[in-house]
Amino acid sequence: MNNQDIINEIRKKTDIVDIIGEKIPLEKRGKNYFGVCPFHDDTNPSMSVSREKQIYTCFSCHATGNVFTFLMNYEHKEFNQVLSDLAKRLGITLNGFKAKEMPSKYKDWYDIYDIANKFYQNNLMSREGTDARNYLEKRNIDQETIKEFNLGFSLKDHDTLTKLLVKKGYSLDLLNKVGLTSNDYDIYHNRLMFPLHDLTGRVIGFSGRIITPGKQNKYLNTKETELFKKGRLLYHYHIAKEAARISKSIIIMEGFMDIIRASTIGVKNTVATMGTALTKEHIKDIRRLSNNIILCFDGDAPGIKATLSAGEAFKEEGIETKVIELSGDDDPDTYILKNGGAAFKTLINNAIYFSDFKIKNISSNYNFTSSEDKANYIHEVMKEIIDIDDPVRIEIVLKDLAKKFEIGYNTLEKSFQEQKAKNSKENIKKDIIIPVKQPQQEKKDKYQKATLAIIYYMLNKQEIIDLVESKHLVFPTGSLRALESEIVYFYHKYGFINEADFYTYLAPKQELISILSEVMSLDLNSNITKEDIMDYINVIKEYNLKNEIKRLEQKINETTDQTLQIKYAEEIRKLRIGES
Ligand code: CTP
Ligand code: MN
Repeated sequence: MNNQDIINEIRKKTDIVDIIGEKIPLEKRGKNYFGVCPFHDDTNPSMSVSREKQIYTCFSCHATGNVFTFLMNYEHKEFNQVLSDLAKRLGITLNGFKAKEMPSKYKDWYDIYDIANKFYQNNLMSREGTDARNYLEKRNIDQETIKEFNLGFSLKDHDTLTKLLVKKGYSLDLLNKVGLTSNDYDIYHNRLMFPLHDLTGRVIGFSGRIITPGKQNKYLNTKETELFKKGRLLYHYHIAKEAARISKSIIIMEGFMDIIRASTIGVKNTVATMGTALTKEHIKDIRRLSNNIILCFDGDAPGIKATLSAGEAFKEEGIETKVIELSGDDDPDTYILKNGGAAFKTLINNAIYFSDFKIKNISSNYNFTSSEDKANYIHEVMKEIIDIDDPVRIEIVLKDLAKKFEIGYNTLEKSFQEQKAKNSKENIKKDIIIPVKQPQQEKKDKYQKATLAIIYYMLNKQEIIDLVESKHLVFPTGSLRALESEIVYFYHKYGFINEADFYTYLAPKQELISILSEVMSLDLNSNITKEDIMDYINVIKEYNLKNEIKRLEQKINETTDQTLQIKYAEEIRKLRIGES
């Protein structure tokens, strides 16, 4: 079997409805399944999954593809990884088989970061890395951990890395662009280097930490590039993926050193932002790992503030996180160093609910001297627990309040129910007012509709391929022609064609994928006759004809040579009566 055959085989034996259904709830409607699309912010079931065609399509964000692309995007994995996961699931051994790497626009970038990464790691182990190694030793980071996190060191001199990369043939322009060089000089000097990975595990930048206290910033990060966005990066995500699946939870920390320390005690289901607040993208990517999210920030005031804002951000997405509280001057790193791994694991197991954390922290805003102050506090606490489904938790909080303020439990309970009823009424009102977003439909002309329809039917009914070939239909633009010839090629080579397999085959040709995606999101009538197809073919031929005549007319206008003008006019006449 050749590569594409193996890929097709694995695709055929896997049911896309099962796979997507494991990640997001799907509901059958007609012959398709519908669920909330995970690739954009939505609450409506705008993603349709077809068992018959083995493809998915989102009517709102237009994401579309087959089981491979779904998993690649959903789990942030490379094609080969997804392929081998599915093969494993099916009990198929791949015997070292690897599909060809998808060519990437950023191949040079990735290569440069890989070279730099190795360079920094070598430096750390060299004589020049002595200070950095001593620094790590002082911080109790052992050799194994250095390897695991690919820690490195940037040299004191000015241009060794730049020179090395230039020697390897990369232009200074590119080196500036990827953020490693500025005006012929290395960006990083004398810093402990942390490679930064994207969600799939490729190095896309670095963060360098000073090893001797001084005036410089503690960390120097790669500037934002086309690949590296601070608001998107989650340190350690590519490792945490697997760990979170096993432990069914994900812990968010503040700093690199916290993540690294936790890893040394076997806690690897951790991610960290780069000292920034959580963005919507962060939240989305974290949710993909687990809905059981634990915040473990520094114990100081900024840490508490960060916990409150992260917890609120998740709450807005309908998730109540848990919180690990550290005391004043601890972060996870120092806590583990002082108290050991077992103690930290106990903290994880005893993480409190975000609402309980918040209730505790709300009280510091009140001084409870007036009865008004007390009542306000009580109402704020109630507001905090209003969304909690568990009546036991509600009762515990209300009983605590009753005890603390010497109020009857029944009074509190009655007031809580009133507040809850009022709240749900307001929510219903809000639901009515919020307009439901309608998927955008661009207007297409008759000709565009015909081309897309023909491609659609070529992929869904193989006899249409023969028909299109026999009628010598020529699509007018280069990319449509390229797509057509790819369809014909695939069909003749493999003896069949369908959207799902063709999609994988075409994936390296990104410029054609966008047309294919558009075609895949069509849901055209499968009861189509040969005559219907002929109508489409004629629409395109007519369009081609019009364009050809236009082209010739233009040529007539552009030339003063009368013989040429006569020649073009004759060609136009022939075209009009259908002779050529
Ligand atoms: N950070 C940054 N620039 C700084 C300080 C911090 O980008 N000048 C980011 C880093 O990503 C850092 C995170 O914010 O990991 C948290 O900061 P901090 O807790 O100060 O860093 P730690 O990783 O804990 O480092 P260390 O323990 O070595 O001080
Ligand atoms: Mn820290």
